[in-house]
Amino acid sequence: MDRNELKKRSAQAALAFVEDGMTVGVGTGSTVAFFIDGLAGLRGRIEGAVSSSEQSTARLRAHGIAVFDLNAVGPLQLYVDGADECDPRNCLIKGGGGALTREKIIAQASERFVCIIDDAKQVPVLGRFPLPVEVIPMARSAVAREIQRMGGRPVWREGVVTDNGNAILDIHGLRIDDPIATERDYNQIPGVVTVGLFARRPADVVIVDGVRRA
Ligand code: 5RP
Repeated sequence: MDRNELKKRSAQAALAFVEDGMTVGVGTGSTVAFFIDGLAGLRGRIEGAVSSSEQSTARLRAHGIAVFDLNAVGPLQLYVDGADECDPRNCLIKGGGGALTREKIIAQASERFVCIIDDAKQVPVLGRFPLPVEVIPMARSAVAREIQRMGGRPVWREGVVTDNGNAILDIHGLRIDDPIATERDYNQIPGVVTVGLFARRPADVVIVDGVRRA
């Protein structure tokens, strides 16, 4: 089956987690776009959404869904987002779309994180997908050198500026056997805003090709 159809099935299955009166945390990407389109059907029943990117905000607003600042709504019950890779413990690589920082903030602020993917994103060990890292622009080269020293191969995503005005380095050549330690180690490099490893706060529920993973 077409990958987009599988993404759409996962997005539609996530709608079952949306309850009346909720303000829903919304991620970014092509899978989430299907979720937002489905959320439009529940528009009258939810309060609105907190968005992880300008891209998702525009799509939510186009459907007439109110978008709130996270500061105005406090903790959320539900966050729905895609991922680039997912391991058996629900640890994720995210940030292929460059929205990793706001995604991680909203995931952390949410009681339940429902991750929606297609089967191609399930891996036994994270790292085949280059690990995105958002960095302060003036620190880009210094962070890249430090990543090299740590054994990774950073590639600057040239021309990309995040919604926060920062740069992205994608780290190639990693095998992430200990995602929590790797997340911590990269987070500690001065100039790193966010590493796209979601291990300290993994997904609570993973939906693959429309089916909740056991
Ligand atoms: C954006 C992300 C996305 O969730 C990830 O890139 C998956 O995207 P898609 O659903 O388009 O495959 O982390 O920063």
